[in-house]
Amino acid sequence: KRRSVILGIESSCDDTGCGIIDTEGNILGESLHSQLLVHLNNGGIIPPVAGVLHRKNIEQVVESALKSANLSMKDIDAVAATVKPGLPMSLEVGTMFGKLLCRKHQKPFIPIHHMEAHALTARLQNPSLEFPFLVLLISGGHCLLAVAHSVDKFALLGESIDDAPGEAFDKMARRMKLRNLPEYYELSGGQAIELAASKADDPLQFPFTPPLLQYKDCKFSFAGAKNVCKYYIEKEELSKGVAPDEVIPDVANLSAAFLLVVTKHLCQRLQRAMEYVARKSLIPIERQTLVVSGGVACNNFIAQGLEIVCNEYNYKLVRPPAKLCTDNGIMVAWNAVERWKANIGVYKDFEGIEVEKI
Ligand code: KG4
Ligand code: ZN
Repeated sequence: KRRSVILGIESSCDDTGCGIIDTEGNILGESLHSQLLVHLNNGGIIPPVAGVLHRKNIEQVVESALKSANLSMKDIDAVAATVKPGLPMSLEVGTMFGKLLCRKHQKPFIPIHHMEAHALTARLQNPSLEFPFLVLLISGGHCLLAVAHSVDKFALLGESIDDAPGEAFDKMARRMKLRNLPEYYELSGGQAIELAASKADDPLQFPFTPPLLQYKDCKFSFAGAKNVCKYYIEKEELSKGVAPDEVIPDVANLSAAFLLVVTKHLCQRLQRAMEYVARKSLIPIERQTLVVSGGVACNNFIAQGLEIVCNEYNYKLVRPPAKLCTDNGIMVAWNAVERWKANIGVYKDFEGIEVEKI
C-alpha cells in the first residue's frame, strides 16, 4: 500500500502552524508563524487581533510548509485542521482555509481536537508507545489529566477549576513587569518566570502552600497561588517605594517560589491520578507511561518534579521536544495520520463541520 501524505493546520490560539507528515511518521514539511510579540505588547491576547493575524498569515504559512516539503497540493491525500477547542475567531481561520483547500483540490477533510493532538504527538516520536497511557496537558489555555485509551477515546480525570498554569505564569510575568528588563522582552510569561527563578537565592522566604491538598480528586487550581503572589508584589512595591515601571527587588525569589508551588501542585495531582489508575487497573503495570505536553511542559524545573513522581510510581515519562510541546501544525497532521490509518473521522462530505462555539 502506497504511503499517504497529510497536511495539518493549527490556528486555535496565537500560532498559525502547518505540518506535512506521511503515514510512516516522516515529517516532510513544516511552517509556523507566532503572534507572541504582538500579544505581549498588547498585554494579553485580544481575540479579534489574533483572528486578523491568522487570516493575514495562513496562506503564506501553508505555502511555505508545502515548499519546505518540496510538494504541491496534488501530492497531498487529506487536509486536517484544528476545529476545537480554542478561540472561535482563531479556529475559524484554519478550519475555513483547510476546507477551502479540500474543496479546491478534491481532498477529504479531517477535523482535529487540539488537546488530542497535543496528547498523541508523543506517539510520533515513540512508535512503541501503546494505548492506554496517562496524559498531563499543561498550557496557556488548558490543564488536564486524562487516560488515552485509543486514537479517539480519552477519559478525563480532572481539569483546572480556574486558570491554566501557563495563563497564571503569563499574568504573573506581566504583573512583575519582567518585560521592562531587556533579557525578558521576547519571552513568553512561562519562559520569563523560569529564567527569573533560575537566579533565586532564597525562594523559601515565601511560604506558599499548594492548593486542594485535602481533595482526593485530580482537579487543579492556580488562581489562589497567583493571588497570594500578587499580594507579595504589592506589599514590596509599597514598602520599598518601587516606581510604577520598576521591577521589585525580590523578583527572582518570588518567581522561584511561584514556580515551586505550581510544580508541587502538579506533582501532587499527578500522584492522585496515578493512584486512581492503579486502583482501577486502567493501565497495565508493566507499561505505565505518562505523556506530558503543552507549552508549560517546556519548563525544565516542572519536568524534573514530574520525573521524580514517575520514578516513585514506576512510570516512564515521555516529554516531546519543546517545538512539539507548544502549538504547531505537525501535531495536527500527526493526529490526522492516526485517524487516517484507523479510518476514524475522515470526511469526504465536510461542509457541516463547524468550529466549536464557546
Ligand atoms: O501550548 P501553547 O503553545 O499554547 C496553548 O495552547 O496555550 O502554550 C503556551 C503557554 C504560555 O502560557 C507560556 O507562558 C507557556 O506555555 N510556556 C511556559 C514555558 N514556555 C512556554 N511555561 C512555563 N515554562 C516554560 N518554559
Ligand atoms: Zn496548545
